[in-house]
Amino acid sequence: MSKKILLSGIKPTGRPHIGNYFGMMKQMVDLQDEYDSFPFIPDYHAFTSVQSSEEMRENTLNVVMDLLAIGLDPKKVNLFKQSDVPQVTELTWIFNCITTMPYLMRAHAFKDSQAKNKDISVGVFEYPILMAADILIQDTDVVPVGKDQIQHVEMARDIAEKFNRIFGETFKLPESKLVAGVEVIPGTDGRKMSKSYGNIIGLFAEDEEIHKAVMSIPTDSKGVEDSKDPEECNVFALHKLFSNEDELGETRKKYVEGGMGYKESKHLLIKNIQDFIEPLRERRKEIAKDPEKVLEILKKGGEVAHQRAEEKMIEVRKKVGFA
Ligand code: ADP
Ligand code: TRP
Repeated sequence: MSKKILLSGIKPTGRPHIGNYFGMMKQMVDLQDEYDSFPFIPDYHAFTSVQSSEEMRENTLNVVMDLLAIGLDPKKVNLFKQSDVPQVTELTWIFNCITTMPYLMRAHAFKDSQAKNKDISVGVFEYPILMAADILIQDTDVVPVGKDQIQHVEMARDIAEKFNRIFGETFKLPESKLVAGVEVIPGTDGRKMSKSYGNIIGLFAEDEEIHKAVMSIPTDSKGVEDSKDPEECNVFALHKLFSNEDELGETRKKYVEGGMGYKESKHLLIKNIQDFIEPLRERRKEIAKDPEKVLEILKKGGEVAHQRAEEKMIEVRKKVGFA
């Protein structure tokens, strides 16, 4: 039996952080043998905010390097960028015409951006439709994403169902894949780690940056011997990602019984994060030496994704009467 199709995108909007890694990127690596995988760079989506050609090119190349550095194997996965599959914009238009404005207005991401800035672009409003096109055009079964993207995957299902109802069975209904325990990785201030909050620890950060970020995590005023609630502490929340089970149990015990101060806890965290990041960072430096090779990987992946999308669109154009 052929493998199920997995697809997920990571936008070229800046450097990834450990929230992106544990929330989404790591799943792409862990699942690359089990699924027929299509990790991609949604540059059309990024265009809602990145509107400089230089920055777009640089960010895109960077994200591909990041994905290779964390262990995506181009022999196993089909890595591509969205703009090599312009058929998604064609499908977006078709979906636009079967989706209502009130339905789209329910999107959390839209509501959030509207709350921040009334002058949002049509592109921001349409974001979930373009994402639905990305997913549905490749016959995707599963979409690994962090919690904030679940609603978008549900919208893709709704749109697929609606299209199928009107024009006959055409699209598979995709499911999101969320890993328990890493739905929301907290940032250094306790809120969701996010590029837009300035509370991140970079996935390829240098040792000094890691040190600085961890030392900036606010804690309460309890002393070394005081009993502390591990579940209330943002340092401990990050220990959960970087400690093995034994070490985490030990740290938890010292929090509850007293014996570990926040300074010691932070130093342990810094060491563990540094040990984790160092090999990734070094691998990335190696990969960055040969950008041509990286672009070649992206081009090849683009050709495959383009071909698959075109085949799907031939079917869609027939169904809606454009062919
Ligand atoms: P950011 O909020 O930093 O701009 P993106 O929106 O680019 O991050 O998210 C890229 C992917 O990483 C999405 O699948 C998202 O769900 C996931 N992700 C982002 N931040 C976190 C986090 N703090 N915890 C878990 N997953 C996250
Ligand atoms: N919207 C996703 C994000 O902000 C990126 C994305 C675009 C995506 N198209 C997708 C993710 C398709 C999964 C599947 O992170």
